[in-house]
This record gives sequence, structure tokens and C-alpha cells, in this order.
Amino acid sequence: MKKLNKEVKFKIATDGSSASGKTTGGKLISKKFNMKFLSSGSLYRFCALKILENNNAYNIKFVNKVVKSITLQKLQNKKLYSPEVARLSSIIAKKKFVRNALKSFQINFIKKSKLVVVEGRDIGSVIMPDADLKFFFICSIREKAKRRLKEYKNQNNKITLKQVEKSLIQRDKDDIKRKISPLIMTKNAVLVDTTKLSIKQLEIKLTNLVKKAIKKKYGNL
Ligand code: C5P
Repeated sequence: MKKLNKEVKFKIATDGSSASGKTTGGKLISKKFNMKFLSSGSLYRFCALKILENNNAYNIKFVNKVVKSITLQKLQNKKLYSPEVARLSSIIAKKKFVRNALKSFQINFIKKSKLVVVEGRDIGSVIMPDADLKFFFICSIREKAKRRLKEYKNQNNKITLKQVEKSLIQRDKDDIKRKISPLIMTKNAVLVDTTKLSIKQLEIKLTNLVKKAIKKKYGNL
């Protein structure tokens, strides 16, 4: 496929459970097709980090101020990927005022981009229901825990496989059972099971699916 021409508008949602490969997959296709990428998980994590730094205190005013201060650069902070931040992010994600503030950020980002990939839990259902292509990632809990443990080990975090597994199960449960914007697979989403896929295999699979969907929308470019 040639480089996407300027007229092409294409939005992709990559949703799924914790550590299912949705960020890796989303980043791979955004690079491949030169699309903008937003990890909505990093937005919840950023708010959680700021709340932790504020001795766990937060209200609507505090969260709105934090959201206003977000830049893409700040979302690269490695501190966002600690087990403590992960845990708090799924707790604050249950609050309507947190979700509303972050929804505005996401909608703004999407409006500004013709070619965009957004990763999360409620992208295909709430944030970008009109996405051109929706992926829903799943993976076995053992494999997810192994992947996350590897990342934590790289950060010198002393945590066991069992602990990682337990915290992933808890977060997934919280995300699925949440009343507002729960983790859900929409009817028109494509299921991607990453349990047995290497990164290369994932890249090939997603690339083919994206090419097919762009072709369906625009014909041969
Ligand atoms: O995807 P990631 O693990 O970085 O997300 C951190 C937390 O943020 C999740 O456990 C989830 O509770 C919350 N989240 C959410 N909705 C999104 C993205 C993340 O509730 N769209």
C-alpha cells in the first residue's frame, strides 16, 4: 500500500484487558501507517500518579487541573508504570468526574487527527464509537502476568509472578464490573488473541487487517 494520501481519514480503536497487548499492537500499527497514537491508559495513570504525589487526596477541581496540565511528553514518564500507579488508576477510573475530564482530552486529541489509533478499555464503545476499525485484545492471564513481570523486573521492581497475576485479575475485574464505561467488546470489533503471537506475528496480523479495512473504505489507494 502506498503512503496514505492526505484525503484519507481513518480511526482505529484498540481495546482490551490489562497487558493484553493492546498498547504494543496500537503502537505497531500507528508507526506502520504513520498515524497518531494515544494510550488512554497512560491518562488514567498520569492522574493516579499526581494523586499519589498529593498524598492520595483528590477532588474534581484537582483532577481538572491535572488533566489541563497533560502533555504527550509527560505521558512518557516511566513512573506511570509502577504497580502502585496501576492499582490506583483502576480505582479512580470508576469516578465519573475523572472519566469526563479525560474524555474531553481524548475527544480533543481525536478531533485534531485524521489518522489516529487510540488504545484503552472504552474507546470503541464510548470515546470513538464511530471508529473505522475496532480491535479487541485478549490474552491468557499467565502470559499477561509473565509479560508484565518482565517489564517490572526491567524497572528493578521486586514483585512475584503470583502478585502480578493477582493484581491483573483484580484490575480486569474492576474494569469489567464498573458501572460507567466498563471494559466491553463491541459487536463490530475484531478479536485478537495475543497469547501465542510473537510481536512480529502480531504486526503482520494487524497490518493485514488494517490494509483490508482501508481498502474497504477507500478502494485501492
Ligand atoms: O491500560 P492501562 O493498564 O495502562 O490502564 C490503566 C488503568 O486505567 C486500567 O486498569 C483501567 O482501570 C483504566 N482505564 C480505563 N479506561 C481506559 C483506559 C484505562 O478505565 N480507556
